[in-house]
Amino acid sequence: MLDFSVNLAGVTLKNPIVTASGTFANGREISEYYDLSELGAVCVKAITLEPKQGNRPPRIAETASGILNSVGLQNGGLEFFMRNELPNLRRYDTKIIANISGSTIEENCEIAKRLGDSVDLVELNISCPNVKHGGAAFGSDAAVAREITLRVKEQCKVPLIVKLSPNVTDITAIAHAAREGGADALSLINTLLGMKIDVHTRRPVLANNTGGLSGPAIKPVAVRMVWQVARTVGLPVIGMGGVRSGEDAAEFLLAGASAVAVGTANLVTPTAALDVKRGLARYLEERGIRSAAEIIGAVKAY
Ligand code: SIN
Repeated sequence: MLDFSVNLAGVTLKNPIVTASGTFANGREISEYYDLSELGAVCVKAITLEPKQGNRPPRIAETASGILNSVGLQNGGLEFFMRNELPNLRRYDTKIIANISGSTIEENCEIAKRLGDSVDLVELNISCPNVKHGGAAFGSDAAVAREITLRVKEQCKVPLIVKLSPNVTDITAIAHAAREGGADALSLINTLLGMKIDVHTRRPVLANNTGGLSGPAIKPVAVRMVWQVARTVGLPVIGMGGVRSGEDAAEFLLAGASAVAVGTANLVTPTAALDVKRGLARYLEERGIRSAAEIIGAVKAY
């Protein structure tokens, strides 16, 4: 029998597969395709204190092996989430991760405080590349990353995950800063800042000019960063970036991730996260591996 459970900062996930924030909304649409109780955890779309319209369209563009997005944290706000979305999600036997994306330290503190222990974990997003205030501005300076983590952690009643940006010189420096601030876990990577230009109109394809690149194109970068962070920082990691198959998930676990998030693939195939979960179980069983935890960090690096 396979023990598929993993431990993420003291929270037991029944399996290592979670959803990446922003690619799964609050689960309603995808729950028409499969039972969300199949997942280790659901990480919901970014939550801000007040409702947010997001950026001007166009804000999604296809690229070779990925997509660019400049959504700009569109969501219904904290109150809407707690009143309408959370009760629906709570019907499923899965852990809930609330991604909080306030534009100031104070806003993030207020959201964390009001969420209390109504969710299982909080993911503090210091890595959105598509907003002028907050987001990646918090996550590209180690001192700021430490400070915001410290302040939000003080308000958190559940374990705090800090979501890191790949758009930095040294992601391990930011990871260390988050750990010093009291983070219980890290998630990485958010999207890589990119741009696409329509050569006929000479206009950027996204109205925001730039956007975050996700999907299979970024997987090797993500695996490398997870490996670098997991082996040096000493915190559990949720690995993400271009995961489409059970073997992709295994790659992140081997690199040192304790859980693996499926993101852009959800937009291509609604059952992607379930397919990845089943593929990972097959990968483990075919090799006689009895527990998912056994391969975490088990890469035989040179
Ligand atoms: C967005 O809503 O712009 C994407 C969120 C993120 O990259 O953190």
